[in-house]
Amino acid sequence: MERGEAVIEQWCRTCHQRASDKTDPDMAPPYEQIVLRPERTRAYFVQFLKEDHFPMTTYRLFDSEREDVVAYLMGLQKAERKKRGGN
Ligand code: HEC
Repeated sequence: MERGEAVIEQWCRTCHQRASDKTDPDMAPPYEQIVLRPERTRAYFVQFLKEDHFPMTTYRLFDSEREDVVAYLMGLQKAERKKRGGN
């Protein structure tokens, strides 16, 4: 498992669904969907993880963990776009 994925497994799965889960409107969307939203660039995620977002306010990661998460999300984005035959 990548380091960023390990961080997500540890801190983010209480809210964020897995791609394989049945959609639950009370849960936050899976990262596979988030990365396919328009304008989700590396800079966007870096900024997003720096700021507090309700209800995610308690999640204060180390800088290195944030970088790992962003790296994981960028890899996921590439894979998901490829699956959909995009760029
Ligand atoms: C307490 C619940 C909760 C936890 C824990 C949580 N999130 Fe979220 N997250 C949310 C909600 C709610 C949203 C908004 C739903 C949406 O964007 O559709 C969200 C949205 C996001 C987005 C999408 C931002 C966007 O604008 O597209 C990212 C990226 C994200 N979270 C990353 C993380 C990461 C990384 C962690 C773990 C370190 C985490 N979240 C932990 C609830 C949570």
